[in-house]
Amino acid sequence: MREINASIPFDKALWRQDIAASKAHVAMLAACDIVTDADAETIIDGLETIAGEYEANGVPEDWDLEDIHMTTEARLAELVGLAAGRLHTARSRNDQVATDFRLWVRDAMDQALAGLAALQCALVTRAEEHAESIMPGFTHLQTAQPVTLGHHLMAYYEMAARDVSRFSDARRRLNQCPLGSAALAGTGFPIDREMTAQALGFAKPTDNSLDAVSDRDFALDYLQAAAQCSLHLSRLAEEMVIWASQPFGFVRMPDTLSTGSSIMPQKKNPDAAELVRGHAGRIVGCLTSLMVTMKGLPLAYSKDMQDDKPPVFEAASLLNLSIAAMTGMVDGATFRTDRMRQAAELGYATATDLADWLVTQADIPFREAHHITGAAVKLAESKGVALEALTLTELQAIDSRIDEGVYSALSVEASVAARASHGGTAPAEVRKRVAEARQQLGMDQ
Ligand code: ARG
Repeated sequence: MREINASIPFDKALWRQDIAASKAHVAMLAACDIVTDADAETIIDGLETIAGEYEANGVPEDWDLEDIHMTTEARLAELVGLAAGRLHTARSRNDQVATDFRLWVRDAMDQALAGLAALQCALVTRAEEHAESIMPGFTHLQTAQPVTLGHHLMAYYEMAARDVSRFSDARRRLNQCPLGSAALAGTGFPIDREMTAQALGFAKPTDNSLDAVSDRDFALDYLQAAAQCSLHLSRLAEEMVIWASQPFGFVRMPDTLSTGSSIMPQKKNPDAAELVRGHAGRIVGCLTSLMVTMKGLPLAYSKDMQDDKPPVFEAASLLNLSIAAMTGMVDGATFRTDRMRQAAELGYATATDLADWLVTQADIPFREAHHITGAAVKLAESKGVALEALTLTELQAIDSRIDEGVYSALSVEASVAARASHGGTAPAEVRKRVAEARQQLGMDQ
């Protein structure tokens, strides 16, 4: 029983939140004349001493004391004697743990938001630098049309912006204080729930005591946002892995985020990116774990809910690391724009532009234009050159209606510049979005 019951091995991570909530609670009890000012002061002094001890030596792990709440209360009794017993008036471990955990998850949300802001700044900075750098854009991972690297990086900025909105939204919903819900039904003591809510930075007290002690939506909201964010990080990581491979050679990863091989001296492996990709799987697992734990629990508290913390703690540390690793990668990557440009040209990414030119300039039906373009690509491919390297004579041999003007459509620069529809890849469009993003992130202050 001792072993299965104990949560102290992991919930000791809540000690700061537990002490803060206890201080707020006892200050409120004194203000409401439920305990004397003298007892409250003794208890607060004792809690501060304990915080100092935890800070210096860590939290002791005595399984007989089950959790962080009992561990702290037992130590308080050793330090201040009988007065310690007044701290738990008008409170239960059920509202206590719900409060502590909300405070912890709120901090985790704030950390994610800070990390995402740094990642967004890195993306925007590199995107601005590469607003005109041309690379192949892909569908099915096959060269499709030229895009700008800045546009590609800004796609991840948009994903991060949605993650920010999800975490902010979750934080707003979380920010109500369960303290004072007691075991499940509320309390008969004349407490002031507004006061504790305010002291702990919550917007208001929760409105239903049964819900408050059995609700873990805030943890699930965090995990959902974390899981979705980790998918974005994993996709970016995957692109880095592909781009860093020799056949692509689009990027050189920073040495600080790569490793060598113990046997192959030429190797530089993108381990950090691979681990971010791997961590996403574990974070999704944490979300699944807590969803399944909560499914089918009757009101109100059940001990199953003690299992809420490990997946959240695990996901938070994996997510924070993943965000930091990807920020470092975006910051420190050397983009090989020469290779990217070459790949865009040799991948015949402007074939669509040639077909479009035949339609608009030579009044050829699109299906026929598509066919003529196919022949031009085939010829260029056989010669191992870009489309625009074919001579006018060669092009006219394929179709006599082609004239000099076609070359303006064939360059990769012309192709990206033409795609200036809102949200398109044209350098001017990318710069417009970068400017908005810089403003939003406060980068110009
Ligand atoms: N260790 C418990 C947890 O983490 C604290 C709440 C215990 N409540 C109870 N009714 N036994 O969930």
